[in-house]
Amino acid sequence: MKIAVIGTGYVGLVTGVCLAELGHHVTCIDVDQEKVEKLNSGKSPIYEEGLEELLQKNLHNEQVEFTTEYQQGLKDKQLVYLAVGTPQGEDGSADLTYIEAASRDIAEHLENDTVIVTKSTVPVGTNEYIKEIIEANLVHEVHIKIASNPEFLRQGSAVYDTFHGDRIVIGSDDEEALELLEAVNAGFNLPIVKTDLRSAEMIKYASNAFLATKISFINEMANLSEKIGANIDHVARGMGMDKRIGESFLNAGIGFGGSCFPKDTRAIISIGKEIAYDMPILENVVDVNERQRSIIVDKLLKRVYDLKGKKVAVLGLSFKPNTDDMREAPSIAVTEKLLEEGATVVAYDPVAVANAKKVLPGQVNYAESAEEAVQGADVAIILTEWKQIKEFPLTGYKERMNKALLFDGRNCFNLDQVKDSGVEYHSIGRPV
Ligand code: UGA
Repeated sequence: MKIAVIGTGYVGLVTGVCLAELGHHVTCIDVDQEKVEKLNSGKSPIYEEGLEELLQKNLHNEQVEFTTEYQQGLKDKQLVYLAVGTPQGEDGSADLTYIEAASRDIAEHLENDTVIVTKSTVPVGTNEYIKEIIEANLVHEVHIKIASNPEFLRQGSAVYDTFHGDRIVIGSDDEEALELLEAVNAGFNLPIVKTDLRSAEMIKYASNAFLATKISFINEMANLSEKIGANIDHVARGMGMDKRIGESFLNAGIGFGGSCFPKDTRAIISIGKEIAYDMPILENVVDVNERQRSIIVDKLLKRVYDLKGKKVAVLGLSFKPNTDDMREAPSIAVTEKLLEEGATVVAYDPVAVANAKKVLPGQVNYAESAEEAVQGADVAIILTEWKQIKEFPLTGYKERMNKALLFDGRNCFNLDQVKDSGVEYHSIGRPV
């Protein structure tokens, strides 16, 4: 099939390249000339495992191409995917500026009947709004159909998730559009959920909100476990073996970050507000997550009292491992608080330092390795469970720090390991 994808951000690029890999012919359109040139030369602007290889292979086979030209990009396409960003607006709602602009561009240049498929996460009802914008601005005599095909990709494993996801959701109020999308996705060989437009939009928000709820829930249980002398690792394991609960997303820590959960939970609350429907569970999910970020620093302060003149090694900055993404990373709030308390901060992250420098306070110093960061430190604090950090041995802290005092916001070590290590170890939801 001939497909266009608008927007070559993380969602659009992965979608375009993976559809090409299935054998479709894909033209990706982006307004950013430099990015388009980079992509046409086989370089991926984001790091995603396996993406650059697939990009190069499909460029070589002429299955995928990149352009800034709408007219050329939309020509003869049976499907046009919209995958532009929907950042968080000032009031927490999704900002649809890019969706509106892309819809107008489609309307101006579309010369044949097509199905417009929204990949971007958009509030319920937005697909109908997109249809209105396009139809109101069409230059040529053409007919469009609208469908929603939300993504469930995790950053860092987006290519894997595209081919091995649990389900594909396609929603449309038009039977032919549904059939076309079913055919396009058949090659993925995954279960397909066919539904109406609004339910598809809702499935995306409800899924992310539920996963965020699971994390805040386990964090609340962790805080309580710690106070009453239980161990959250054992509690989560015992809970997760119940298939109705499930074992994933029960890792207690310093809370969720990233470009999706914080934004989408606030957006769904805001969708409710617009129709005067309060969502107390989700409001508390957001509050618990905010509070969780300060818990590790509060513990540290309770133990050390005064951080003035103390050197704190911060290990891990990105919002989760295997990505350089700093959006809504808990490390931002944590480093700000440490500096406010008068500490000298030396941070280490295997890949996120360049992005971290753009968002962390200027006083933060950076180290090339965990060894270098903890050298001569008074306190060490783990914020992201990178392999390099999980595998940095406890003896490394013991040998390099003034007095080995470790606060672990991601429960990287089990308590047996720590017992006779000579490291004073504090974590989340477990007895000291
Ligand atoms: C998330 C969803 O998992 C994807 O299904 C969805 O498609 C994506 O958002 C999106 O809407 O685009 P992502 O943000 O890449 O993907 O990352 P996750 O791996 O889900 O982790 C999110 C945050 O939750 C991280 O900060 C992580 O540290 C935290 N987390 C996750 C926990 O604190 N505990 C857990 O048990 C799991």
